Amino acid sequence: MIRTILTYPNSELKKKSAPITIITDPIRQLVHDMAETMYAAPGVGLAAPQIGAHQRVVVIDISGKNEPPDLIVAINPVIVHAEGEAYEEEGCLSVPDYAANVRRYARVIVKALDLEGIERTWKAEDLLAIAFQHEIDHLEGILFVDHLSALKRELFQRKARKAAEEKR
Ligand code: NI
Repeated sequence: MIRTILTYPNSELKKKSAPITIITDPIRQLVHDMAETMYAAPGVGLAAPQIGAHQRVVVIDISGKNEPPDLIVAINPVIVHAEGEAYEEEGCLSVPDYAANVRRYARVIVKALDLEGIERTWKAEDLLAIAFQHEIDHLEGILFVDHLSALKRELFQRKARKAAEEKR
């Protein structure tokens, strides 16, 4: 089922997500919905809190094919190593109509459980490394705009307020 993606400044996006202790049918359903929602958007990544579920799971697919073969499901993901520097433009399904460059690590090693509960390790670089960092941030209640300089963030907030007023 395609779920509604919460958008800035919804306070649900600022909450920390809890670890998943056991992979139950509701968790499998959540992951299924997350993948469907991400592909429909379309987007390259989605974290559970973006659809209001505060559980530590993210889905990522940077293939651009919008089909499951390249889908990454990462449950309780942890960055165990990070190195190098990246400064690429990012967007977010929860921050529509806005993009900005963000400082990230260029390469990360991520450990997580897959949907079968098996521990997996991803050695990620470039777009995949950025996607992991962006999505894991969501689990901490952090959006990419939180990484911007004070001045840039102020400009973003002004733009967001204006857009909200225009919608009214
Ligand atoms: Ni995002």
